[in-house]
Amino acid sequence: MIVTIDGPAGAGKSTVAKALAHRLGFAYLDTGAMYRAVALAALQRGVDWTQPEALAHLAHQIQIDFQNDRVFLDGQDVTEAIRDWQITQITPYVADNPQVRRRLIQLQRHWARGRNIVTEGRDQGTLAFPEAECKFFLTASPEERARRRLRELQARGLSATFEQVLADQQRRDQEDANRPFGRLARAPDAVEVATDGLSIDEVVDRLAELVRQRQQKSSVRNMNLHHPEHKVNFMNL
Ligand code: DC
Repeated sequence: MIVTIDGPAGAGKSTVAKALAHRLGFAYLDTGAMYRAVALAALQRGVDWTQPEALAHLAHQIQIDFQNDRVFLDGQDVTEAIRDWQITQITPYVADNPQVRRRLIQLQRHWARGRNIVTEGRDQGTLAFPEAECKFFLTASPEERARRRLRELQARGLSATFEQVLADQQRRDQEDANRPFGRLARAPDAVEVATDGLSIDEVVDRLAELVRQRQQKSSVRNMNLHHPEHKVNFMNL
């Protein structure tokens, strides 16, 4: 089964997706980390990230792996390095590049093959896995998202003001919303979950319950498909 979680920066996707995957015993895929890994590779190899062709070529050469929630770029553990401020500045060039996006979606589908996964990003329910059985769109108010981000930065020992974080978030929201290919959008069949005022556990409980309901429905549907004599109106299940 494929569970997709999309939403804007700061909506709590990563924390929720990781916890949900853990709860369900599914694998977890952080697709934002893949865009960040391409940005890091460009920086390390001196590739001009403002040149779309050069970036696309690079995306086809590198290897990105995930093991136990760690991210590897050509065998090197880059889990912390891809969170660097400079990488965050370069990543929009990667995310805006349609050829790179196509390549990364190809890798995401390949990675998902034969697995139960929770995948998280901006385009997972729309472009990468339009056939996913279970889709979520996580939101929160801009102020709540900025407060969470500020707490996260402070926990990492970094200093910023609420106003700076809010302004940076608005810029990222604009970038995510206006990207011609792969822009942030709620898939029509995604369940929207507003996370304001909810704890991580409450959000995960809610999502896990919805996934279980979908799992039950699809197992009943499969049973009916395999036993035509028991054919009931499975379309309405
Ligand atoms: O979620 P994040 O901040 O790690 O994402 C990093 C960047 O990659 C951000 O600019 C949004 C972009 N992104 C994307 O365009 N599509 C995805 N599926 C995931 C992330």
